[in-house]
This record gives sequence, structure tokens and C-alpha cells, in this order.
Amino acid sequence: MDDLRTKYIEAIAAATDEAALEELRLQAVGKKGEVSLKMRELGKMTPEERQVAGPALNALKNEINSALAAKKAALADAALDARLATEWLDVTLPARNRRVGSIHPISQVTEEVTAIFADMGFAVAEGPQIETDWYNFDALNIPGHHPARAEMDTFYTHRAEGDERPPHVLRTHTSPVQIRTMEKTGAPIRIICPGRVYRADYDQTHTPMFHQVEGLALGKDISMANLKWVLEEFFTAFFGTEVKTRFRASHFPFTEPSAEVDIQCSWENGTVKVGEGDDWLEVLGSGMVHPKVLEAGGIDPQKYQGFAFGIGIDRLAMLKYGIPDLRAFFDSDLRWLRHYGFASLDQPTLHGGLNR
Ligand code: PHE
Repeated sequence: MDDLRTKYIEAIAAATDEAALEELRLQAVGKKGEVSLKMRELGKMTPEERQVAGPALNALKNEINSALAAKKAALADAALDARLATEWLDVTLPARNRRVGSIHPISQVTEEVTAIFADMGFAVAEGPQIETDWYNFDALNIPGHHPARAEMDTFYTHRAEGDERPPHVLRTHTSPVQIRTMEKTGAPIRIICPGRVYRADYDQTHTPMFHQVEGLALGKDISMANLKWVLEEFFTAFFGTEVKTRFRASHFPFTEPSAEVDIQCSWENGTVKVGEGDDWLEVLGSGMVHPKVLEAGGIDPQKYQGFAFGIGIDRLAMLKYGIPDLRAFFDSDLRWLRHYGFASLDQPTLHGGLNR
């Protein structure tokens, strides 16, 4: 019995995992284990012998069982300690730096433009980017045969074979939102419509998708003079300096009279500065809304009149933030975005500053 005790107590102490312990348990106190077999021999003993051997065997069995249980607990503790050691985490370490996203210059400028016009009482209106040819052209006094349709390099949507309806277009300008707003609210109107527009064109100064902001003000007593004031107020607020404008007579089918507007600038070693010098840069088209356009929008041209304008947002962003190549806006180059992007919490407002 002493041999058995020594054998199993030492083996249990030396076991390194639960499987080994189970093996030892079966060998010692399992049904056919050595201690169990010894217990079976009790029957053949004399009562006197049994009285000595019985309790001793029981004690041995208990001793082995408790050794097994203790070792099992010790192994579990060791496993937990090992896991705690490897999965240890120092929560007092400073957090790793994470790159924060930035606001794209186009989004930033759109917010700035919106803030300035909102201050002059202009609400924001929006329309779909996929338009019917009626909203994009006809309602704006550009009939089917008009050369402006070809000039605009329009993207047409696909039509199923045999479908004779006129195809939808990707809007070539934000002007269709003029008509949609007239229909929706009637006059008077004072809105801007920022958004994406599309033309099949691609070079250093043209991308197939770009951004415009449309302006429309209709009332009973609105003239070209109001247009000029609004635009000069806008440019001065936007560029943060007094900006002279130059109105050049032009032609758009949807305005009469029409004017293209240049802003004062200087060129020094290839960089442009707005608000100084004696060069001019074209930034928008504008004019008094054509009576036919008012009619198309369900507004009586005898009662109401007003001005409209369309500004290129991308061009404004390039001028204000010194961005040389238009195409970079849409390359999604992270280095470019980090360099030219804006902090996401800096919302442009007139009182807080338009850009920081
Ligand atoms: N829609 C014109 C363009 O895209 C701009 C414009 C808008 C001109 C409103 C006059 C009035 O070129």
C-alpha cells in the first residue's frame, strides 16, 4: 500500500495536463484500477485482516482522489495564470493615434456658399441628378434643335429598344431646379441650389462631374441691380476681401438679358489672387429669368420677374484655396485630401469665420 501511495502521489504531482491526470485516476481508482482491485481482495481476508486493510485502503483511495482534485485545480490555476500573462493589457497606455477623416474642399466651399446666401435670405433647394430632358432643356427655353443641347456634351441614359420616349439625361446644370422650385412653391422665390452636374468633357479644367450652385430670386420688384449687389456681397464675404465684378453681355436661352460675371484678380508667377490687380476671371453666368421660363414654371411673367445665376463651385474652391488642378478634386488621393481637407468640426458660419 505504501508503494501504491508513493507511486500515485508522485505521478500525480508530476502530471502536466488534465489528460494525464485522468489516465492516472483510471489506473488507480477506476473500476479496474489498482486500488479498486485491492479492495476487491478484502472479501477473501479474515475479518481481523479486513478490519485493518479496509480503512487503510479507503484512506488511500481518498488520499489519491484529493491529490487528483488538488492537482486538477492547480493545473487550471496555472493555465489561467498563463492566459492572464499573455492577454495582459495596459489600459493606462496612451491611445494609438488614429487618422481622422477630413472635409473635402468642395463640401467645405458648398457650406461656405450656403452660409453666405442663407444670411441674405436664400433657402436651399435640391433636385434630382438624373433629369428629364424637359426640366433640363425644354422648360429652360432650350428646344430640341437648339445648339445649346449639343454644346453641353450631355450624357443620355440608355433606353430599351423600341422605347421611343425621350431619354433622361444627367443634368448638365443646376438650372432645372429653378423650374422644379417654381412649380413647387410659386413666387416669390429666393433659393440657391448647390449640387452635382455632368458633362462629357475631361481635361485640366473640365471633369465629367462637377459642381454648381444655382441662384434664383423672383419677386415683383427685382432687377439686374439686385443681382449685382447680391453677387458682390457674396464674393466679398466668400473671399474675405472687397472683390470688384465685371458684367459682360452674354447669351443664355433661359435669361434675357444675360451676363457673364468676372471677378477682379491678379496673376503673379502663375498663382492667382482674387480681389486685387487688373485681370479678370470668369466665374458665373447670370441674367434676368426669361418670361418663357417663368411660364414653364407656372409663374405669370406679367406679375413676377427676377434674376438667376449659376456659379461653378469647383472653380471657387480652386481660387480660394489655391488648388491648381481641378482633376485632383476627384482622384481620392489620401495625401491630397489630408493636405487640402478641412477639420470636420469646423463648420463654416458667418459669425465663426468661414474657414480656419
Ligand atoms: N446654367 C448655366 C450654365 O450651366 C449658368 C446660368 C445659370 C446662367 C443661371 C444664367 C442663369 O452654364
